[in-house]
Parts: sequence; C-alpha cells; structure tokens
Amino acid sequence: MTPDLFEQGAQRLQTASGGPDAGFSRLRRGGEVDTTHGRILYLEDVNVSFDGFKAINNLSMDIAPGELRCIIGPNGAGKTTMMDIITGKTKADSGRVFFGSTIDLLQHSEPEIAQMGIGRKFQKPTVFEQLSVFENLELALKTHKGVRASLFFRRTSEQSSRLCEVLELIQLEASVNRLAGLLSHGQKQWLEIGMLLMQDPQLLLLDEPVAGMTDQETERTAELFLSLKGRHSLVVVEHDMAFIKAIAETVTVLCEGSVLAQGPLSQVQADARVIEVYLGR
Ligand SMILES: Nc1ncnc2c1ncn2[C@@H]1O[C@H](COP(=O)(O)OP(=O)(O)OP(=O)(O)O)[C@@H](O)[C@H]1O
Ligand SMILES: [Mg+2]
Repeated sequence: MTPDLFEQGAQRLQTASGGPDAGFSRLRRGGEVDTTHGRILYLEDVNVSFDGFKAINNLSMDIAPGELRCIIGPNGAGKTTMMDIITGKTKADSGRVFFGSTIDLLQHSEPEIAQMGIGRKFQKPTVFEQLSVFENLELALKTHKGVRASLFFRRTSEQSSRLCEVLELIQLEASVNRLAGLLSHGQKQWLEIGMLLMQDPQLLLLDEPVAGMTDQETERTAELFLSLKGRHSLVVVEHDMAFIKAIAETVTVLCEGSVLAQGPLSQVQADARVIEVYLGR
C-alpha cells in the first residue's frame, strides 16, 4: 500500500468513527446514556452463585449521575463480584442491570461495556512500566479506539488538551516524561486512573484504590475523587475508613451479597448490624 492510500484509509476510518474533528467530548459524551430518570446505574434483584454459593443475593441499588458512592463491607461480601457483573466480567444468574434507563448491561460483553463509558480500576496498578507517563496516557486514547483505528491514530487538539487536563488532575505534570516504572505506588494508581479518564467515562468503578498508599497519597486521592464527582459518577469500594470519611456522601454496606444498610456515613456507622458484621471488628 502506498503512503497516499494509507492516508486515505486512515481518513475513511476516522470518518467512520466520528471523524478527526468529531472532538473528544463528542466521542465519549454522545448523550446515548439516558439519565432522565435520575439514574446512571440501576441494579435490581441481581443474583450470582458460584458452585451453589450465593455471592450476590437479590442485590438492588441505584447510583445518580455525578454521584460519588462508597461501598463498604466485610471480605467476601460481594463488592468485587458486583463490579464484575456491572462490567460484564461475570454473568448474573438473574436480575436487571441498567446503564441509564435504556442500556441493559446484561446483554453486552465486557469490551462493549468498557466502550460505552464504564471505566474500571482494579486494585493492582496496571500501567506500562517501560513507557513514560505521557505515553501511557496517549496509549489509553489509542487502545480505546480499537486496534485498526489505533494504527492510524493522530491526536486531535481536543484530545491533547484533555491529556493536559488529566495530567493536572492526577498531579503528574512534573513527571510527564518519567518512566511509569519509576513512579511511586500511589503515582502509578493515579496514572491508571488518568488512563481511564482519557476515555472520559461517565461511570467509574474503583476497587480498593488506596490500598498500599501512604497517608499523604491517600489524602491526595480523596481530593482527586472529590474533584471528579459531578462530571463522572464514581462507585468506590474501600476498606480504609479514613478515606471513606474524607469522600463519603452516601455509603452502601454490602454483606453476604445484599445491601445491609445505606445512608450517610454517620448513620451507617451507628447501625448496630453494621457494627456487628464489619465496623466493630
Ligand atoms: N469466580 C469465582 N468463583 C468462585 N467463587 C467466587 C468467584 N468470585 C468471587 N467468589 C466468591 O464470592 C464471594 C464474594 O467475593 P468478592 O471478591 O466479591 O468479595 P469482596 O466483597 O470483594 O471481598 P474483599 O473485601 O475481600 O475484596 C467470596 O466468597 C468469593 O470467594
Ligand atoms: Mg474485593
């Protein structure tokens, strides 16, 4: 293939995916997710069993657009499994899981769900250690576009400004050319969150994001999450109660695959059942 044909092919691909001038925000925020009913995420009577063990048991919950929801609960309560179901990693046996009021997540695969604007952060940082901070963030843009499109990838000015915006949010401007492998554990976690933010997800699921962080890193992560809410909806699973206290609005307590209690932190902390199964230990 001659370079010219290559270029034409690239243009066709870009047009098919919204075109180079479509703009980053249009690509990710096309308004496909219908939140007019006041929910970005809706779970109803979800059940999952593993070899007869009910990991998720009639779980119902909803998250409002822009909300920062904290999920706490004892080990094995089903917190990670709940995220596995939302993201399509685990199939529910029964129940309903909706993104907005029209997208039935149970009908979609894990890659499709990621493309729709649901970003997920696993506990262990998975950045590319041999690449710089900048390259990791740029890669997050490319991989999101799919393998074929990434071959012809060219950053739009809107994507470049998003990259700068994300660098500032995750406070890694001074380390932009540093190899990711040389960052602290906390900085690697922020970089991975930054990689998710490059895709501008409407919903972010974060599983134990401050595990292994220093107190100072934990405080900065709290600030980061507080700055993200509103623009994104966040569901944060964490055992670190100081962190939960710093960010909490509504707290949901999961136990044995169901919601045991839900409300402001002070209310769930005073709940005798929550103290019994979790906080009192
Ligand atoms: N793929 C699987 N196969 C079998 N059992 C599983 C699987 N995934 C989860 N479980 C079980 O389901 C239960 C819920 O696990 P889950 O990881 O969701 O808990 P969690 O609330 O995230 O706990 P932790 O706070 O320790 O991370 C546990 O008993 C776990 O062993
Ligand atoms: Mg877990």
